[in-house]
Amino acid sequence: MKPINLITSLACILLTSIPALSVFAQSGNVELDFDYFKNEVQPIFLAKREGNVRCIQCHDRSSNFRLQALEEHKLFFTEEQSRKNFESASTMVLAGEDPLKSRFLTHPLAVAAGGDPFHGGGKHFHSQYDPEWRIMADWVAGATSRRVPREIAVRIIQTNAASDNATVIDPVSNQVVGRITDIEIPHGVVGAPDGSQIYITNESLHSLDIVDSRTLRVKRRIPLSGRPNNVSVTGDGKKVYVAIMEMPGALDVIDVASMTNIKTVPVNGAIHNVYVTPDSKFVVGGSIQTRTINVVDTATDELVWELEMSQGIRPMIFSTNPDGSTKNIFVQLSGFHGFVVVDFAMRKEVARVELPAVPDQEAHFDGLQGAPAHGLAISPDGKQLWATSKVYSHAYVYSLPDLKEIGRVFVGQHPEWITFTPDGKTVYIGAAGDHVTFAVDTASLKTIARIPVGQVPKRLASVYMAVD
Ligand code: HEC
Repeated sequence: MKPINLITSLACILLTSIPALSVFAQSGNVELDFDYFKNEVQPIFLAKREGNVRCIQCHDRSSNFRLQALEEHKLFFTEEQSRKNFESASTMVLAGEDPLKSRFLTHPLAVAAGGDPFHGGGKHFHSQYDPEWRIMADWVAGATSRRVPREIAVRIIQTNAASDNATVIDPVSNQVVGRITDIEIPHGVVGAPDGSQIYITNESLHSLDIVDSRTLRVKRRIPLSGRPNNVSVTGDGKKVYVAIMEMPGALDVIDVASMTNIKTVPVNGAIHNVYVTPDSKFVVGGSIQTRTINVVDTATDELVWELEMSQGIRPMIFSTNPDGSTKNIFVQLSGFHGFVVVDFAMRKEVARVELPAVPDQEAHFDGLQGAPAHGLAISPDGKQLWATSKVYSHAYVYSLPDLKEIGRVFVGQHPEWITFTPDGKTVYIGAAGDHVTFAVDTASLKTIARIPVGQVPKRLASVYMAVD
């Protein structure tokens, strides 16, 4: 399929729908959509492409293509600025026409790909198939919304805690297939259930960064009420909860449709990890400082109960009853080499399991950061619980519900986090001390790949991403 055909046919379809927020362009009957420009095109002006300067760095001062400078401490354009940017960009395009007639599209496009001979800001896109260039071209063709992915596939996203990026791994080939860049100190990661976007918390800018799954670029940075740690999303994909790691403690609630921070829910203690329960009825945040598990109702976004434990709350994971409701919370605690079982209905601790020493495995006590055991996961069929030990560099496998150890496997230095693929066949573990993500076959308990990633890989997630 040639891009030109795609654009012509798209323009024809869009002729029938006339959006409210738009103006007629100079040519043809195709209208340029403001909301699409604001939410999909503008992020391209702010994005950092390797070897290029961001469009905004030059165009807030030079040339007839004029962008408004971001206001101080702001992470996105205001509505008024977006209007001005839209007006300026609109003068650089011929809506509905051959994309190679629009200066806006040919100037940043490589000559070999159909671009014009010179742009003072260099060439940013090397092909008309470049997903960012396509977003711009679709706007010129009259698009009013981003296409919902037609085809999605499982990807493992490994955040690299001491870097400015996250690595994208294909669990079929165990190859690195992409890199999400320009997020310094990325902490938690989760995916939108429909595969359209990824959510990563940004500890340096105190934002929730929404990453487009086709371009792998940050599409929007949503300001948070404080420094974030981990993040979780509801099953319907409508709300994202962010753990705010600052006293007195809060969870920020992000409305996905409007891309806004709609509420800061006060809780007891700075929150390290946050989880939406499997039935999406509750969101559970753990505090290291106050040793408290906070349970918030997702219908009202209010704290409904809390439970103080003996030590600080580290990773948690949830088992379910046959009706899908939450049965147990498995909790790792500061300074405890094992995990604790909390009964969700009784709201109390019911068991404690200590991870045994591994014979012949050298024990590490340096740089544990208060958490000798950090990383829990339950298999998709609910039959196994996996727990990692930084002290013995192993993952321990327990049967559920009886909690008998059924195996263990070496998973590198400082294992920090675990995720299962949705089919339960493979487990991925971020080995922070080795700068590697381990892939372990769950049937044979054999390591099948050691995938080099970035600096200090910690949290990782199994997500769906657009592959069309
Ligand atoms: C390093 C600075 C720099 C960057 C980065 C840059 N530009 Fe430019 N751009 C220029 C300069 C200088 C001109 C005027 C000279 C020319 O036409 O090439 C220009 C011209 C243009 C024009 C034509 C304006 C006119 O007067 O006709 C467009 C459209 C444009 N740039 C789009 C972009 C887009 C889109 C990006 C990001 C993808 C971008 N530029 C990034 C420096 C930059």
